[in-house]
Amino acid sequence: MSDVELRADRRPVDPAPPGHDTIVILDFGSQYTQLIARRVRALQVLSLVLPGDTPAARVLELRPRGLVLSGGPASVYADRAPRLDPAILECGVPVLGICYGQQLLAQNLGGRVRPGTVREFGPATLRQLHPSPLTDGLEPEETVWMSHGDGVDELPAGFRALAATDDCPHAAIEDPERRIFGLQFHPEVVHTPHGERLLANFVLGVCGCRQDWTPRNMVAEHVARIRERVGQERVLAAVSGGVDSTVLAALLARAVPGQVESLLVDSGLLRAGEVELVRGLFAELGIPLRVHDASGRFLAALDGVVDPEEKRRKIGHAFVRAFEEAVANLEPVRFLAQGTLYPDVIESSVHGGHSTTIKTHHNVGGLPEDLAFELLEPLRDLYKDEVRILGAELGIGKAALGRHPFPGPGLAVRVLGEVTLERLELLRKCDTIFIEELQTSGWYDRVWQAFAVLLPVQSVGVMGDGRTYENVVALRAVSSVDGMTADWSRLPHELLSRVASRITNRVRGVNRVVYDVSSKPPSTIEWE
Ligand code: XMP
Repeated sequence: MSDVELRADRRPVDPAPPGHDTIVILDFGSQYTQLIARRVRALQVLSLVLPGDTPAARVLELRPRGLVLSGGPASVYADRAPRLDPAILECGVPVLGICYGQQLLAQNLGGRVRPGTVREFGPATLRQLHPSPLTDGLEPEETVWMSHGDGVDELPAGFRALAATDDCPHAAIEDPERRIFGLQFHPEVVHTPHGERLLANFVLGVCGCRQDWTPRNMVAEHVARIRERVGQERVLAAVSGGVDSTVLAALLARAVPGQVESLLVDSGLLRAGEVELVRGLFAELGIPLRVHDASGRFLAALDGVVDPEEKRRKIGHAFVRAFEEAVANLEPVRFLAQGTLYPDVIESSVHGGHSTTIKTHHNVGGLPEDLAFELLEPLRDLYKDEVRILGAELGIGKAALGRHPFPGPGLAVRVLGEVTLERLELLRKCDTIFIEELQTSGWYDRVWQAFAVLLPVQSVGVMGDGRTYENVVALRAVSSVDGMTADWSRLPHELLSRVASRITNRVRGVNRVVYDVSSKPPSTIEWE
């Protein structure tokens, strides 16, 4: 990958749980490394990500059944290009190199990499040249996703080309003797429609992994790790009512029952009825919950603030202070648990100093730095759908697991312009109607996220015999896989019409409802 530099962070990995067939992924800095790991887990095979330069001996200690070399933003010719311990290619374990990973293995085995004369980004047509266990079941022509400058020019001895694109004669290569494979394209991204098949061919076919990384085993594994880390100590779980922190709390309750307490900071920026809903849910799960009402503090902090980033900063600070206040009333605990997921980690960090902040997401690293807690983030390597799978295994109901994501700054970024109690109340009423109608029509579960936005403009209308000059509300519903990109949902016109007339009839102060038909990019999901 050379377009965006998003580096997976390099924390030490946990030891591999014994007894599971494992794929080790060596990370050379691609933004897709964790996605490869997730795709392998989706095949119900355990995957572990290690830094690209991990010595062969350490890799072999994990007894992997196969190795994947990830892509990366560098050229193998760059001064500080990440290197591979060449012994890894001689240990007899099957290897799949992807993009930079393919170039790296080719270079290490005596082939030649051609520095980027033809740059290929985006979709390409892959044509099969030779059958192989790696490409088994693929069509003679497949669409694949390319993203590279350099390419493998001369194959190392023992290799042959399996497939090519117009610009890349070595788009898929193999050394059948040594079971070493390379792909110039990215099988892990959704833009390679049959990429999953390729990965399955490698993981299940070539490496022969057993599919034993099941939800039950995942829970057991997480439970074991938490127990080992926490021991007899107490844990405070910071919860929001969202799916992630609910699953987190349930996982902790399973791992260290009796040692967990959860804390919800009520910012006053939540949806209508939210706090009661969370109370009910946690009571059902048997997890003690404390609610700290800090709505006054948040509203005061937002007084006169209109800039979206300024709102997030103010809310971030208010959250820290409210949290400290709440904690001061609790018995001391050693661990603080947060439901951070992998996408939160990448959306919120500034990677390699290049990417600009699009939105400051305050739920990551947003807690006070000087709190005397050790941070526990057991979901940090997982994606949302995996967290839902864990949640289901932990007995959390469908309704709670299917809840739409809700932003940390809450309704403050949906009341455009200045946030006041009156405007929040107005928005809550409209939002409730929209969500109710989505639920009764069955559309709630078919969209990724839906909500109402109160615009900072007034428009002219007519009601009865009189002219009105009142607020405009926008409805937004989007489909998405991970929130990184999104498309607007094609809700039925009758549904939109029903929502609009209920809002204008029932919510005093609103005389116009509009529907947002923008995708992300170029827009974002939230309006602020
Ligand atoms: P955007 O608006 O960036 O949203 O397309 C992508 C996803 O992130 C949520 N979002 C936030 N979540 N703090 C959060 O915790 C934030 O500041 C924030 N801003 C947006 C948004 O609801 C969507 O799911």
